[in-house]
Amino acid sequence: MTSTTHTDAPSALATTSEIAAGVAQFLTPVVHDLEALVVDGKQAHWHVRGSAFAGVHETLDQLVAHAQDYADTAAERIVALGLPLDSRLATVAAKSTLPPLSDGFQPWQTTVAQTVAQIDAALVTIRTAITGLDDIDLSSQDVAIEIERGLTKDRWLLQAHIAA
Ligand SMILES: [Fe+2]
Repeated sequence: MTSTTHTDAPSALATTSEIAAGVAQFLTPVVHDLEALVVDGKQAHWHVRGSAFAGVHETLDQLVAHAQDYADTAAERIVALGLPLDSRLATVAAKSTLPPLSDGFQPWQTTVAQTVAQIDAALVTIRTAITGLDDIDLSSQDVAIEIERGLTKDRWLLQAHIAA
């Protein structure tokens, strides 16, 4: 077989560029939903009230920390492939698929139910990325799979407060 030559370089770069575009298409919405979860998770952390306050308050802080880590991993996968992403505040607010969180102090049951609903919306986005990335880039799919596994565990830790 012929060895790689300089003339192969442009096509190799074009392939990487195509991969990057596909990865950005699926991981950028993941970043938006996770960043929204960070902001609303803190809102929930600050405004939860009631008999289960301590446990829910602490669990929400863990969720926020994890969501920020997941967002960082997804965003840096896009950037590592050479593309920028728009995760500015206004863009996150416009693009997030999360259902709204109620304003003001809330009983812990409401806080947990609404935050679990937000996690579920984010998981739809993440699982869409897992499926979509299967034909694009397995390393990026692995990022999405790792996030799905972690966020599903975070969902359990929170949802268990209201489970029968
Ligand atoms: Fe706090």
